[in-house]
Amino acid sequence: MPINAVLDRIDADLDAALDRLFELLRIPSISTDPAYSESCQQAADWLVSDLAGLGVSAEARPTQGHPMVLGTVGEGSPHLLFYGHYDVQPADPLNLWDRDPFDPAIEETPNGKVLRGRGSSDDKGQLMTFVEACRAWKAVNGSWPCRITFLFEGEEESGSPSLVPFLEANKDELSQPDLALICDTALFNRDTPAITTMLRGLLGEEVTVTGPTRDLHSGYYGGAAINPIRVLSRIISSLHDDTGRITVPGFYDGVPEIPDEMRAQWDALGFDDKSFLGEVGLSQPAGEAGRSVLEQVWSRPTCEVNGIIGGYTGDGFKTVLPSKASAKISFRLVGTQDPHAIRESFRSMVTTMVPPDCKIDFKGHGNSHASVMSTTNPAFETARQALSDEWTNPAAFIGSGGSIPIAGHFKEILGMDSMLIGFGLDDDQIHSPNEKYDLRSFHKGTRSWARVLDALTGSRAAS
Ligand code: BES
Ligand code: ZN
Repeated sequence: MPINAVLDRIDADLDAALDRLFELLRIPSISTDPAYSESCQQAADWLVSDLAGLGVSAEARPTQGHPMVLGTVGEGSPHLLFYGHYDVQPADPLNLWDRDPFDPAIEETPNGKVLRGRGSSDDKGQLMTFVEACRAWKAVNGSWPCRITFLFEGEEESGSPSLVPFLEANKDELSQPDLALICDTALFNRDTPAITTMLRGLLGEEVTVTGPTRDLHSGYYGGAAINPIRVLSRIISSLHDDTGRITVPGFYDGVPEIPDEMRAQWDALGFDDKSFLGEVGLSQPAGEAGRSVLEQVWSRPTCEVNGIIGGYTGDGFKTVLPSKASAKISFRLVGTQDPHAIRESFRSMVTTMVPPDCKIDFKGHGNSHASVMSTTNPAFETARQALSDEWTNPAAFIGSGGSIPIAGHFKEILGMDSMLIGFGLDDDQIHSPNEKYDLRSFHKGTRSWARVLDALTGSRAAS
């Protein structure tokens, strides 16, 4: 059956596909906040029942945290594993949303229609592109293009704590697929599809400095009592030098320079630094001196403070000298940087900076190595061609500054290569208020998967 019939079916079914996606978007599956555990279970159950409608007997498998949705269907090679995540980031700050984050809607914008709502781009909208492509394929052909395993995670946005134990416990079942397809990344730009070949790793550390046994009046005690916010600020400001390099001892061990060939390929992409920064109200790259913006986000490691808590932050003013202050700090890692070694080095460096009478506590929040996909697998070229057939410009191989821990775990634990194809855009506001996914991303993303499935299963020549 020609691929065109599947593409036509996708076009005709678009409204119904949007209704299905909106049902999923209405479930506030915020994985990091225990108050939303039931919603995570509900999102997993929703996916199980949607897959059941396609004839896939998937299950929501329990873990220590939120369930993994897992199901396999179809026959024939290659055996593909499709991964997406159904959990989302917290929606705060709520007052910056123009609508309820969990009451999605289609909105008209100068760039066309968008689907507005938490998780629309990261990752429910993306995950459903693959499911919808399969639905159309099945409706037209009455069968599956090949053997397909669906694996949907519910903890990706909170560091995937249950992932490694789950992959290890289900190694036999999960190591059968030939290739993982991960839909959680972006297009290069509006008209240029992309296969992401590099992801940064991530290490999260929460640091709490405790001084006095209770909050104090800053008049009574100020001057004599140590202030944990000042101690924390000194720690934070010591993490970078004046050129933007990170000062943690040994931090740059395992950070490679990108090969000349890749540099040339990236240069040829014509990335526009000005509009990338300009779109968020900035004009000056603020990373390591002497590095291009693309290098700064795709191939260099970073240390960022993601949040600071301490003292009085409500309305008005309160003269308090706080007992505690804490910061959430994350490191993006590249090459073979070792998250465990960096965690240790960071902790010992910071511990030496703590003055008498203060105590420091650390809490780790996940760690993952960077991953580099091996593009020698011929599936990459096949998929690149299939994507190029759908979009205005040919597909590019790109890097990404984000982290998707499972890509590394698939390789290390299951020995499986991953191919990252996604349809997000830089302006999707993922993790921020007013997250959106372009309707075009959802629609052409679904069509793209149909083409990729067609090409990978060798049906391409027949169409
Ligand atoms: N989808 C993103 C990763 C991403 C972001 C890929 C931008 C491409 C472009 C993913 O869901 C994500 O946000 N991951 C977290 C991982 C973390 C919480 C362990 C991240 O990168 O911060
Ligand atoms: Zn994501």
